[in-house]
Amino acid sequence: MADIETDVLVVGTGPAGSATAALLASSGVANMVVNRYRWLSNTPRAHITNQRTMEVLRDLGPEVEAEAVMHASPQELMGENVFCESLAGEELGRMKSWGTDPLSKAEHLQSSPSFMNDLPQTFMEPILFKTACARGTQARMSTEYVSHVQDADGVTTTCRDRLSGKDFTVRSKFLVGADGGNSLVAEHLGLPFEGKMGVGGSMNILFRADLSKYVAHRPSVLYWVMQPGADVGGIGMGLVRMVRPWNEWLIVWGYDINQPPPDVTPELATEVARQLVGDPGLEIELLGANTWTVNNCFATHMQKGRVFIMGDAAHRHPPSNGLGSNTSIQDGFNLAWKLAKVVKGQAGIGLLESYSAERAPIARQIVTRANQSIAEFGPIFEALGMDGGVDHDKIQKNMEARADATQAAETQREALRKAIAFKKYEFDAHGVEMNQRYASGAVASDGQREPAFEKDRELHYAPTTWPGARLPHVWVFERSGRKISTLDLCGHGEFTLLTGIGGEAWVAAADAVGAELGLPIRTYVIGPRRAVEDHTGDWARAREIRDAGCLIVRPDHHIAWRAETLAADPAAELRRVFKSVLAR
Ligand code: FDA
Repeated sequence: MADIETDVLVVGTGPAGSATAALLASSGVANMVVNRYRWLSNTPRAHITNQRTMEVLRDLGPEVEAEAVMHASPQELMGENVFCESLAGEELGRMKSWGTDPLSKAEHLQSSPSFMNDLPQTFMEPILFKTACARGTQARMSTEYVSHVQDADGVTTTCRDRLSGKDFTVRSKFLVGADGGNSLVAEHLGLPFEGKMGVGGSMNILFRADLSKYVAHRPSVLYWVMQPGADVGGIGMGLVRMVRPWNEWLIVWGYDINQPPPDVTPELATEVARQLVGDPGLEIELLGANTWTVNNCFATHMQKGRVFIMGDAAHRHPPSNGLGSNTSIQDGFNLAWKLAKVVKGQAGIGLLESYSAERAPIARQIVTRANQSIAEFGPIFEALGMDGGVDHDKIQKNMEARADATQAAETQREALRKAIAFKKYEFDAHGVEMNQRYASGAVASDGQREPAFEKDRELHYAPTTWPGARLPHVWVFERSGRKISTLDLCGHGEFTLLTGIGGEAWVAAADAVGAELGLPIRTYVIGPRRAVEDHTGDWARAREIRDAGCLIVRPDHHIAWRAETLAADPAAELRRVFKSVLAR
């Protein structure tokens, strides 16, 4: 007999674990989280919070999204990504990033009701964790996962209370390993991984100093510093990263992974900060310093029986593109509704297999992208004649040559402009953030082929209602006149059916099939004089079905199925689709 019983045990209270707990608790599923430390992240690692992640927070409730926005630096402050010799030194180039370029901005506005922002992990985690605990999650801090055994009915996990040193057991229906890049849960499961850990070495230096005079005229979250040694280890170049504008900063500086990690003493930290800021007299208030390794590794399968891994436990990569915490929270959005449906008896256990089928390809994609982004700093170094050497005079000479009135210098200037512009694949890759499309048993084909991406799929989001894709956002209108996103009509742990005038038979069928399967299905008819109206015609242009067709939207906003027009027997179609999608 276990000491404690719950439906889902989550190991880890990072972005992945806290988001999953919050989503489970919001669905009324009994769950418990454990964290080996007494509190949440004490260093602001992740900041870049993309639109898809903000949609997850919005799904948790407008107050959750609003709190994140309140603590975040807004998108307008994120944009002038600077490349320079040092903050005080010469600027080499700039690019508008993170959806602040006017064309990108339009795409961001069209794609989502939510805005990208810059929210340090030290703020994001408490918001998610508090939401979870307030809604019913049982949290045990200073409690370590030790081991687990699973059988046909559940999982028995041994945890250690680090205050008393005593072990206790938790019996749950499911176990989620959200225990970060050194995941013990993943190790115990023996899941398959591809790639390599420790491909580069990096140090973080967190400090307070008012640097407004160097940055306030070119507000950005990232200031890339090009100095001898900047291409050794690390994340592509030296980085001065805004944490809070403009008096809290994180420096990321590489070290050679083939050497032992440096001891980042206060003296070394101050020296590196002075060097990258370019102010030999700079006084910093050092808040912390540590070393970490750059990884290039992902799980090709994220489940074994009743145990799942998510977040950094499954995808281990550098912070390039700012995808880590985002993808971790999105893993939670994918798994939580499935666990809830199975726990409530509304889905068969087979539904859970779709988690790995849908998220493991994303893990591969983001790990590959993040590591490729490091390599894509190469052309900038080349354009400046920096070939990996640390000969300061040579580098200085090459950098100065770009200002000459010669053909060679003109070629060099063009090469540098192109190399910087190409970094949009790291700093403005809206498609990487938004184009996740799933293929699994939790999606039912409508017989149509996947629409091709007409623009670069890493840079541009391509909305479609093709089953497996995320429901496109457009603004529609309630009868009161209130503007509401199509995404707001959906989610919150339940399926939604969207149809138009002439599709009322889908609504009746959803009511009947929902009652038969014990499954709540929300329905909306969108059209003139209906509960939701499409005054702008944006929905009619986005939906890719006729008025009397229908879309079935999963709780995570992805399309489960669609019908172009009314079926001869709508109830039979919905019964078939829901049974298939929910593995019933
Ligand atoms: P995370 O590591 O955050 O949490 C793991 C949890 O498990 C912790 O609570 C830990 O205590 C707990 N745990 C571990 N072992 C345990 C055990 N045995 N028992 C109990 N508890 C255990 N991402 C992003 O989206 N945007 C960005 O801008 C950046 N920027 C960035 C900069 C830098 C410098 C770094 C190093 C990283 C980023 N990231 C990022 C990445 C981001 O920080 C990372 O991907 C997330 O923290 C991963 O979240 P997880 O919840 O998966 O793991």
